[in-house]
Amino acid sequence: MILCSCNRLTCSEVRAATAQVLDTGAAEEVSPGRVFRLCGRTVCCGACSSLINRTITDHAAAVRAGAS
Ligand code: FES
Repeated sequence: MILCSCNRLTCSEVRAATAQVLDTGAAEEVSPGRVFRLCGRTVCCGACSSLINRTITDHAAAVRAGAS
């Protein structure tokens, strides 16, 4: 499913980038900007921001729950 129509950024790409950041053990929260950079994209209009944020938050929670 495409979350960002400007960049054709998919849900699976956002989830993979989120997991990649979490795998590094970074202490900071996973930011949408970092996910976009990891996916080789840049934010254009920003209309997708709430959907991207929700996907990051939900996937980070699932990864953390699975890790415990
Ligand atoms: S829809 Fe994502 S930047 Fe435009």
